[in-house]
Amino acid sequence: MTLEDTGAFVAPDQLPATVTAGDEWWRTAVIYQVYPRSFADSTGDGVGDLVGITGKLPALVELGVDAVWLSPFFRSPQKDAGYDVSDYRDVDPLFGTLEQFDTLLGTAHEFGLRVIVDIVPNHTSDQHAWFQEALAAPEGSPERDRYMFRDGRGPNGDLPPNNWESVFGGSMWERLTKPDGTPGQWYLHIFDRSQPDLNWENLWVREQFHDILRFWLDRGVDGFRVDVAHGMIKQAGLPDYTPPVEAASMGGSATDLSPGIENSVVHPDPPYWGQDGVHEIWRGWHAVLAEYEGDRVLCAEAWVDPLSKVALWVRPDEMSQAFNFAYMFTDWKAPALRRVIDESLEAFGGVGAPATWVLSNHDVIRHASRLALGADAPPQGAGIGPGSTVKPDRALGLRRARAATSIMLALPGSAYLYQGEELGLPEDIELPDAARQDPTWFRTGGEKYGRDGCRVPIPWEADAPAYGFNATGASWLPQPSDWDGYARDAQEGIVGSTLELYRSALRSRRELNLGGGSVLWLNGYGSSVVAFRNGELTVIANLGPVPVELPVGRVVLASEQIVGGVLPTDTTVWIAPN
Ligand code: NOJ
Repeated sequence: MTLEDTGAFVAPDQLPATVTAGDEWWRTAVIYQVYPRSFADSTGDGVGDLVGITGKLPALVELGVDAVWLSPFFRSPQKDAGYDVSDYRDVDPLFGTLEQFDTLLGTAHEFGLRVIVDIVPNHTSDQHAWFQEALAAPEGSPERDRYMFRDGRGPNGDLPPNNWESVFGGSMWERLTKPDGTPGQWYLHIFDRSQPDLNWENLWVREQFHDILRFWLDRGVDGFRVDVAHGMIKQAGLPDYTPPVEAASMGGSATDLSPGIENSVVHPDPPYWGQDGVHEIWRGWHAVLAEYEGDRVLCAEAWVDPLSKVALWVRPDEMSQAFNFAYMFTDWKAPALRRVIDESLEAFGGVGAPATWVLSNHDVIRHASRLALGADAPPQGAGIGPGSTVKPDRALGLRRARAATSIMLALPGSAYLYQGEELGLPEDIELPDAARQDPTWFRTGGEKYGRDGCRVPIPWEADAPAYGFNATGASWLPQPSDWDGYARDAQEGIVGSTLELYRSALRSRRELNLGGGSVLWLNGYGSSVVAFRNGELTVIANLGPVPVELPVGRVVLASEQIVGGVLPTDTTVWIAPN
């Protein structure tokens, strides 16, 4: 398929450079996260699929991103939306076939888009052949040693081996029942009980994953986003651990990961996160990628703090990038933002890695809602829903989200976008209980809503079934009835729409090489303002209530309309010399 075939209009200067080898493209890349089940559904069964994604690639070229990260589409019982893999070398029939994946990849490459796949090495599905073999094998067998089986505590081993609490709620341990009906050993699962943790001290496990990487590299993928890259090695002896404060559920040791929060305390990592032993694993993966021509990326999902610790994941012989969750969770306050930007550039730059920036993904409340909540935002993973006491103000959230994205896309390094944020989509806070699918909701008995609100299928067309997500109107999570205004076709070509804001930000970012530049802070604008130069471009964001007088220059981008030469509250502007 060519762009002409699709009827999409793309000005020649907007086309990304053709994929070339060895250029470390990821240092400056804007990477767009596709959550396959909610992107585009070609079959009409209510779940997005690979053919659907391929058909929409021109829309991503037009948007102006450099690469696509696909959340898991591998064979899986879908107990955690595909982050429970039962076969790492095949596509789940829900999403299509391996052949359709190859078509997607080839088409993306023709368009100059790189493709990153999501690899889930901390745990498998309990339906994976390795786990089934372990269950069938005796205690102490090599098959059992691939996972984390332990005897229970107490007189009959009735108590779990330690007190660790699963990320999704409840104990991190599940007890087996032997074939004769008597209780057996326990196995560890940081996440759902359907996601047993692998034993990464086991060399056989390590070799298997090297081969899995090669399987996808042989097909031509441009790299991997690595799930739970901070959790694979557990502290020896698996000691009891009680978190000192309520941390972000995916990891991190303090209530708030943001270094910008006053009095934020960084506690030692729990015995299951951020252990030093993980780095040897990443050196091995780095070596596997180096077997291949061209330049491939490894991006760590490592929820550890502080940023100087995250930087250990991206030393020259380990991964290429790590998500910057500290940035994601920084309060909408100018001093906090300046500090986290400085700390990020210093930490990542200190090891020769690019800084990364991210505001939304499939595990957090969409930033068009989160930024309206301020200190009332619940901890990561808890989510918001119909019964929450806090309700984000949509207009305020969107205004701040547009301003925040306009800061982010002017920063040097690599930026991650999550599908739908270019439409200004809010979190769906009205999802009915009966529709919820996140294991967090079930494992906490409905106490935490979880992450479904950011995973609702995205709107393409205002006046079509399922807003153009498919042709039948089916949708695995129901879409809100008032999303027509967010649909892509309702925003295309509309001056001031969020889609057009993203498009022009990405175009200017490319033209001005902002991803490859640097940050020079500009003083004199007051404490509620974030102001810096990146190359020739001046970026000013007003986070305070008082309008800020703008310097002379040409406005390249403004997150809201600028009237009378002053910058209103919650607005970001990019200014180039006249
Ligand atoms: C992190 C993923 O982003 C999340 O969606 C998933 O539930 C956990 N890892 C477990 O794989």
